[in-house]
Amino acid sequence: MNTKELTEKLNKALAWELRAINMYAHYSAYVIGIHRLHLSAHFKQESSESLVHADTIRSAIVKLGGIAITDRDQTPIIHSTSYKEMLEEALQTEMGAAKTYGELLKLIEVSGDKELYDSIEVIYFAEVRSVEEMRMMMA
Ligand SMILES: [Fe+2]
Repeated sequence: MNTKELTEKLNKALAWELRAINMYAHYSAYVIGIHRLHLSAHFKQESSESLVHADTIRSAIVKLGGIAITDRDQTPIIHSTSYKEMLEEALQTEMGAAKTYGELLKLIEVSGDKELYDSIEVIYFAEVRSVEEMRMMMA
């Protein structure tokens, strides 16, 4: 695994976080009905968490001497005012993130960068927890 390949993978994760920032901010603004009371704040929190994750990934790319992308992943963000549809989209997004970070960890393990591994592992666990949270909310 060379630095270029690792940077490309990190950029993929960064693009996914940039998409998540937008998606959650959008849903926080549009969620309606009684669930708005808690879901608006929850989505805002998820947006902030994605921003923190994006910062971590960007810093890692800088450290590797790469160029961090500035465009979000182009997977469409489905507009809705239905909390159920939002939760479904959120679940898909978190599952995508968990998968990407899982793949990244395998690559980083080979590269032997312990510091990078630790920082990505923290994000990976956060994404896995989010997937479980989302599943519980949808039950
Ligand atoms: Fe994230």
